[in-house]
Amino acid sequence: MFTGKGGVGKTTMSVATALRHAEVGKTLLISTDPSGSLSEIFSRPLDRKVHTVAANLDAVELTRKLVLDLWRDKFAEDIYSVLSSFLPVGREIIDYIEGAPGIDEEFMLDYLLTASESGDYQTIIWDTAPTVTTLNLLFVQQMFYSHLTQAHKLYFKVKKVFNNVDPLALINRWRSLTERIIELLQNETSAWVVANPEPLPIEQASDIAESFNDFGIEVKGFILNKLLPEELCQGHPFWQEKYRNQQKCRKKMQQVADNRQLKEIPDLIGDMQVDGFLKDVATLLHKGS
Ligand SMILES: Nc1ncnc2c1ncn2[C@@H]1O[C@H](COP(=O)(O)OP(=O)(O)O)[C@@H](O)[C@H]1O
Ligand SMILES: [Mg+2]
Repeated sequence: MFTGKGGVGKTTMSVATALRHAEVGKTLLISTDPSGSLSEIFSRPLDRKVHTVAANLDAVELTRKLVLDLWRDKFAEDIYSVLSSFLPVGREIIDYIEGAPGIDEEFMLDYLLTASESGDYQTIIWDTAPTVTTLNLLFVQQMFYSHLTQAHKLYFKVKKVFNNVDPLALINRWRSLTERIIELLQNETSAWVVANPEPLPIEQASDIAESFNDFGIEVKGFILNKLLPEELCQGHPFWQEKYRNQQKCRKKMQQVADNRQLKEIPDLIGDMQVDGFLKDVATLLHKGS
């Protein structure tokens, strides 16, 4: 998982890393960035379904629309059958629930779980992490389901109002899903936090790392991206000053990283081309690891 403030280089690092992993095993690249750019990088639409974009490399952009369509196919019927058995509601309740905050982000996690459990991929590279709000929601939900499934008395009381559905079985299924997602995040996921040598991205990187720690998600390390090379900054007051400021931020990043890994990528010429820029980033990123 590559996370960090917008524009710091998450997609760049994700694609570069995915290309590298695809050399040794089947790899899936998932972007949940709302302003995703995978389609442009691979010059084909990736926002409707998974496509193979290179040897051993599949990619998909999980847009809000795609996620909600998939959510409907998978869960809407269950939710409707439970709710409609004890509330006088029509199918428009599905639209209502679909509009609830967090549904799309949360379902992205379900998509990730399905991809992981399919066993089709050796590595899944995930561009853009869930927000802290989504993670909070996930844990609250786990408690909620756990609470619900313990409420046996309630089921004896309300059982007769459910016609064809077994609410306990459904809730158990949802509970298991939530638990498997948490398990995936806590035991099989490594996060890299990307930042630029500027105060705000570094502050955010520090906050993200802290909350990931609280959620039990491993922060493998940090990537400080777009560092100006010293030799290019000499001899010009503007660039000298910029260089000095970056070095101050770099020190701060080293403190934040503490004893975790810290990789540094210089400011490079070029843009996200698969042959060129991204290969160079991959080489720099994976030097010595
Ligand atoms: N090391 C680098 N040197 C130069 N440009 C870079 C570097 N890393 C990223 N970029 C450029 O910065 C922009 C933002 O990067 P991107 O990976 O899209 O960030 P994010 O996904 O975090 O929003 C892109 O145009 C990308 O090509
Ligand atoms: Mg991006």
